[in-house]
Amino acid sequence: MSSRILIIGACGQIGSELTFKLRDLYGDENVIASDINYNNLDVVNTGLFEIVDAQDYASVKICVEKNNIDTVYLMAAMLSATGEKYPMKAWDLNMDSLFHVLNLAKEGFIKKVFWPSSIAVFGPTTPKANTPQHTVMEPSTVYGITKQVGERWCEYYFNKYGVDVRSIRYPGIISWKTLPGGGTTDYAVEIYHKALTDGNYECFVTEDTELPMMFMDDAIKATVDIMQAPETNITIRSSYNLSAISFTPKEIAKEIQKHIQNFELSCEPDFRQEIADSWPKSIDDSFARKDWNWKHSFDLSEMTNEMLKQLREKYNSTNEVL
Ligand code: SER
Repeated sequence: MSSRILIIGACGQIGSELTFKLRDLYGDENVIASDINYNNLDVVNTGLFEIVDAQDYASVKICVEKNNIDTVYLMAAMLSATGEKYPMKAWDLNMDSLFHVLNLAKEGFIKKVFWPSSIAVFGPTTPKANTPQHTVMEPSTVYGITKQVGERWCEYYFNKYGVDVRSIRYPGIISWKTLPGGGTTDYAVEIYHKALTDGNYECFVTEDTELPMMFMDDAIKATVDIMQAPETNITIRSSYNLSAISFTPKEIAKEIQKHIQNFELSCEPDFRQEIADSWPKSIDDSFARKDWNWKHSFDLSEMTNEMLKQLREKYNSTNEVL
């Protein structure tokens, strides 16, 4: 069956790469990328693109109806660090957009929804190592609260209204095409840029802070895989734990030093340290592995090779500076 796809938040870190992948898989003519502005010209100028305000029900509905959309990937969100600065804005954006899409599905305008959750659903009272799928969840950030509540609503809409909504709890995502914005795990991307441009990086969490992370290619694969899995395989309708690699800033620095010998890491923790400390160090994702055969490919060293190679080319061709 052919799919007509809308990506909301297509200019962002994950939305942009998801757009490129879905265009490859389903054809440029079947994928509408959308965002609230034209902030990512790589996305805007390379395929179908529309301005959609995720917080405006009419804006989303008009785009869905006009383009005969059956599947929505809702990638718009305010992340953890920015959310702490603007708590009500984070709440409004993250919840309004989810309700708009879930209600469109409930009313039969769309058939299938992807909505990402996050490791931010966990909190200081959650077991930190190999965090189980079902465990204590007392998130301490606004972002985490919106994701936890969102998970409850996804499961509710599936149980009560049969909405086919699928979700994964992304760890920190590392990528080179589009920068992340406003997350606590952003240092794991910035460090690669600064290694190339400055030869050193001042990190905003301590060198021993360990968090679950994943290379973008794996994150996109997981997203496509869960959406392509037969409906009966999806046994979790809140959100799946998803895991690849866990590491500290010190460990990234060591890998970078294999390529850039003189690279130096220093650490100046700020308010994001407390957020990082509230999250798990590693995740048990056995449900995802069992239900839809999830398997990651990139380890820290392969990811570092790829990040430095791609960013080197990017800087050489554009003279772009972070
Ligand atoms: N990368 C996100 C953040 O740091 C976590 O989902 O906010």
